[in-house]
Amino acid sequence: MSKPHDQALTDIAHAMLVESKGLLAMDESTGTCNRRFASLNIPQTAEARRDWRELLVTTSGLEECISGAILFDETFRQKLCDGRSFVKALEDANIIPGIKVDIGATDLAGHAGEKVTEGLDGLRGRLREYADMGARFAKWRAVIVIGEGLPGRVGIDVNAHALARYAALCQEVGLVPIIEPEVLMDGTHDLGRCLEVSEEVQRSVFRQLHFQGVRLEGAILKPNMVLPGIGCAIQNTPEEIADATVQSLLRTVPPGLPGIAFLSGGQTPELATARLNAMHVRFKSQLPWALTFSFSRALQQSALALWHGEAAKRIHAQESLLHRARCNQAALRGQYSARMEQE
Ligand code: G3H
Repeated sequence: MSKPHDQALTDIAHAMLVESKGLLAMDESTGTCNRRFASLNIPQTAEARRDWRELLVTTSGLEECISGAILFDETFRQKLCDGRSFVKALEDANIIPGIKVDIGATDLAGHAGEKVTEGLDGLRGRLREYADMGARFAKWRAVIVIGEGLPGRVGIDVNAHALARYAALCQEVGLVPIIEPEVLMDGTHDLGRCLEVSEEVQRSVFRQLHFQGVRLEGAILKPNMVLPGIGCAIQNTPEEIADATVQSLLRTVPPGLPGIAFLSGGQTPELATARLNAMHVRFKSQLPWALTFSFSRALQQSALALWHGEAAKRIHAQESLLHRARCNQAALRGQYSARMEQE
């Protein structure tokens, strides 16, 4: 039986996954954003964070490559210099506004090394407020660590359970849930181990989504690419990574889901783009869902380093952001090449 928001959710999800566009994740928590600013000696103030996010959303032409942007609560309540809210500025630019709603990962009691994401208490009220303020979608990130004996069954299943509870609450108020189970790339594990864990995590997530009645047509998955650990001696080619990633998704993600948008997870911007490109070159015609990007670092990193907190560098930083967005758009068409990095 259909529920009140079903068609609206499907429409928003399709608008977010529109051909040849991806999502801009600009939802770093205050702590994460401050750490990135500190590494570049940028002042760690609410005003500097606002300035940076204003630079991002006012980049001219961004809407040609970006369909939606994920905001952090602080940004969601801030205003641009011209007095518009960030939600209004995104809407004016034809970019769909979204909001990160989890409140971060913490240690899972009784299971050393495992993480669990918090934020379910009071979530229904917060989601209603965000929806009333103009959000059209939300995001919740679960963190899965690969290590000695990790992850275990409990770590995987409690995170999947929380993701599904969050997703059901989102759909109740008409927000499309972005469901992000991130298997971290920290560690020395190889590609095969990441493949095994990613498949297990995705299976558990879709079991819980089904069990809790989440409607797949109005949801988006935001997974990691299947990668060898950052400390693994064998770093695979983009083609090998594309094969493993798409294989894991084809085996675990039902075709009723409209789309998948990858996180970048600490890959270099160029590698994240090359790997996404390889997926489209090799598999585009065989995929039952849209396959796009929802990067934070792989879109923002070079622009942030150029900006450096200086107003005079604003335009350079925006050009850099737009360039990365265009490279990723080319990847969605299977047309990216290293030559684009010189342009
Ligand atoms: O939750 C994480 C962000 O939405 C994606 O960030 O692309 O830097 O991994 P990332």
